[in-house]
Amino acid sequence: MEVGWSARQGVLLCLTVSLLLQGRANTTFTINCSGFHQDGVDPAAFQAIFNQKAFRPVTNYSIPTHVNISFTLSAILEVDAQLQLLTSFLWFNMIWANPFISWDPEECDNVNKLTVTTENLWLPDIFIVESMNVDQTPEGLSAYVTSDGRIAYSKPMRVTSICNLDIFYFPFDQQNCTLTFSSFLYTVDSMLLGMEKEVWEIKDTSQDVVRTQGEWEFLGISKATPRMVVGSSLFDQIMFYVAIRRKPNLYVINLLVPSGFLMAIDALSFYLPAESGNRAPFKITLLLGYNVFLLMMNKLLPSSGTPLISVYFALCLSLMVLSLLETVFITYLLHLATTQPPPMPGWLHSLLLHCTCPRKCCPTASHKGNKGLGLPPAQLPGLKEPVELVEKSPGPGEAEVAGGLGWTRAQREQEAQRQHRVELWVQFSHMMDTLLFRLYLLFLASSILTVIGLWST
Ligand SMILES: *[C@@H]1O[C@H](CO)[C@@H](O)[C@H](O)[C@H]1NC(C)=O
Ligand SMILES: *[C@@H]1O[C@H](CO)[C@@H](O)[C@H](O)[C@H]1NC(C)=O
Ligand SMILES: *[C@@H]1O[C@H](CO)[C@@H](O)[C@H](O)[C@H]1NC(C)=O
Ligand SMILES: *[C@@H]1O[C@H](CO)[C@@H](O)[C@H](O)[C@H]1NC(C)=O
Repeated sequence: MEVGWSARQGVLLCLTVSLLLQGRANTTFTINCSGFHQDGVDPAAFQAIFNQKAFRPVTNYSIPTHVNISFTLSAILEVDAQLQLLTSFLWFNMIWANPFISWDPEECDNVNKLTVTTENLWLPDIFIVESMNVDQTPEGLSAYVTSDGRIAYSKPMRVTSICNLDIFYFPFDQQNCTLTFSSFLYTVDSMLLGMEKEVWEIKDTSQDVVRTQGEWEFLGISKATPRMVVGSSLFDQIMFYVAIRRKPNLYVINLLVPSGFLMAIDALSFYLPAESGNRAPFKITLLLGYNVFLLMMNKLLPSSGTPLISVYFALCLSLMVLSLLETVFITYLLHLATTQPPPMPGWLHSLLLHCTCPRKCCPTASHKGNKGLGLPPAQLPGLKEPVELVEKSPGPGEAEVAGGLGWTRAQREQEAQRQHRVELWVQFSHMMDTLLFRLYLLFLASSILTVIGLWST
């Protein structure tokens, strides 16, 4: 570095700079810092640099400019699942070297670095490939210029970037969004990108700074550096993968817990006696309630794609419908049994006997079924009609028809047989009820376990 300064040399500097713009010179350039004072810097000292800002600052155009970049993620503002957009806020830093800037700090009042407004400097055109909005960089930003010619520039960026969101595991989903930094214009011959900080440093500072009081939690950043080929040109680029996770509490409390309660009530309503006729209205009310719940909670669900939770809700709804159908079926069976019981097929009878034997050899034999057999028919509400029939018919029959003893006996036998059939059918209905209930429980448990299993992976 030269120590003595003269006006001629200053003129020479300007001359060499202008020569250099034509790509001919490759000497080192020193700024005349006699204008560096406590009360400011003489702009004339930098005029040569400022005049040159339209061109990429290199001494030989076959040398690429190395730009080191880094960023700090300061907020995750919005994740739009329908438009597949991530809106984030970052502070973007770039460092590059300008070989024409250099001064000796010892000569210049120990000034090591200066701030220069960016309007006066050449800036690398690094942009984010995924970004969906135009750069809204505030005007009047400055950059640090150090005595060895390095320029450090930071700017805030509000980035709305395309992100391939996978909402299948909603609300327990993790997203991996890519931010690719690349030059707009310069190919690898003219610009190379590097890292200003290590990825873990970016991750750590982001983790300290990030303000996601909202729905998303910042997990980490990783990077990859594949080059981008556009036509015959090769562009250098750095891809950062930003991993974020949704905080599921809101959805667990508002979606899963109420739905779980409704399902539990639906399952428990199987314990309402089928004969009372209360079960079906109860289940219908529950079904209506579930529909209202789904309508209200639709707003919380992502509006595009089919998350697992929608499948789960559909499954719950169909289970409720199935349980209602089961109740209708059992009510029909009981009604059939108590009004006009058809003769029971032999195989069914033996199956029934097998399943309701006192040792409970068959697991589907229920306490209900056994109770049904043990109960006097009068105690079954659905059996009132036949019981009345049985009680009434012998009375007038004996009194009215004198010679009809045989007929009465036959009638009695018929009635006894009928009653036996009624009992068998009622018992069968209860058995079916229990069996279907257990199938329902099994299906419910297996589907819930499947969904939980999928969510926890
Ligand atoms: C620097 O510039 C000042 C005036 O701006 C001049 O007096 C001085 O001689 C110059 N020094 C060198 C080394 O060119
Ligand atoms: C620029 O650099 C290339 C290779 O580094 C060299 O071949 C060429 O001569 C240089 N040009 C000038 C003007 O120094
Ligand atoms: C960019 O980073 C590389 C490697 O860390 C380093 O060698 C180089 O000096 C840096 N460039 C600037 C302009 O800071
Ligand atoms: C994000 O996805 C990329 C590939 O698409 C992968 O290399 C990277 O490891 C993923 N990051 C996380 C945190 O899952």
